[in-house]
Amino acid sequence: MHSILIIGCGSIGERHLRCFRNTGRCVVAACDTNPKLLEAMEKGYGVAVFRSLDEALEKGRYDAAVICTPAHLHLPIALKLLPLGLHLFIEKPLAIDTALVPEVRAAMAKAEARVAVAYVYHLMPWISGAREYLLKGELGKVLHVSSSSGQHFPTYRPAYRDIYYAKHEQGGGAIQDALTHIVNAVEWLIGPCTRVYCDAAHQALEGVTVEDTVNVSARHGEVLVSYALTQFQAPNENTLLIHCEHGSVKIEIHERRWGFMKHGEAGWTWDVTPPLERDELFTAQASAFMDEMEGMATPLATFEEAVQTLKFNQAALRSAASGQAVEIS
Ligand SMILES: NC(=O)c1ccc[n+]([C@@H]2O[C@H](COP(=O)([O-])OP(=O)(O)OC[C@H]3O[C@@H](n4cnc5c(N)ncnc54)[C@H](O)[C@@H]3O)[C@@H](O)[C@H]2O)c1
Repeated sequence: MHSILIIGCGSIGERHLRCFRNTGRCVVAACDTNPKLLEAMEKGYGVAVFRSLDEALEKGRYDAAVICTPAHLHLPIALKLLPLGLHLFIEKPLAIDTALVPEVRAAMAKAEARVAVAYVYHLMPWISGAREYLLKGELGKVLHVSSSSGQHFPTYRPAYRDIYYAKHEQGGGAIQDALTHIVNAVEWLIGPCTRVYCDAAHQALEGVTVEDTVNVSARHGEVLVSYALTQFQAPNENTLLIHCEHGSVKIEIHERRWGFMKHGEAGWTWDVTPPLERDELFTAQASAFMDEMEGMATPLATFEEAVQTLKFNQAALRSAASGQAVEIS
């Protein structure tokens, strides 16, 4: 049995707590600086709880930690835990800037720790299925991708005004919070983004000033990519169209399906995953992280993949502020 410490028991931390427990492969403890939340975790799940990370480290021993605090705290916490020999599963986005990345890299190498980042799209069979199909190369080179996505954020996250989302410096806004999932998935499918022109604005969400609407025209190497995202639209939909030399691939994330159409064909050939409970994806993700701890290869996003997506976030924010395209090295 692995021993796992959940750090931060908010919206996603509670889900990780429950889903790691659901695997039956670990004992879970939790810490949060909010005593009310901790009480709920203790009552609801019967796990050991601590009022701070320091207290958790003083009173317990862990093989790994899941960092579920707002993003500006992810890497400072990682730097505290790596020298103690813990493996780390870090929520997205990896951070709000790359300042601590070299130090974390060095600490990872010294500790020989396994570190993965919780870009959960890597666990979606309709994304990994499309990726395997594209890697086979039957459709030739990828030439163009378009992504259209969004949801009515107040419906799904009514507390959005009162959490990290309201502040860029804590990982908030549409680019760092929502678009990052999609960009990371596209990078996993076709390779890293190299150039970004981003137009973004606050169009609708009440009580915040961060951007809720984003248009990006990007290059991922030779591939032209466009991203459109809003957080006020009625449909909770997320579609990727990937056009290649000999045909196209479509991923409808909200329909849990991916399909292909070759030139000359009249319709899509779909691969559909039956309905899943949201926890099932996160339980599979937790299990994959423990596989990773045991030295197995997994589809989880690596630290370096998350650094690359972090560079996209920064470039997109810079481009939106300056009105200029930004190259990503
Ligand atoms: N993968 C996903 O689908 C997904 C979904 C939601 C959020 N997230 C990411 O997870 C992170 C957390 O998001 P959330 O929605 O759970 O936020 P949240 O505000 O609901 O929860 C964050 C929790 O961290 C606690 N916390 C803050 N500082 C702490 C510290 N020093 N020690 C211990 N606890 C501390 C807070 O008290 C709070 O309970 C963010 O980076 C967010 O982008 C990912």
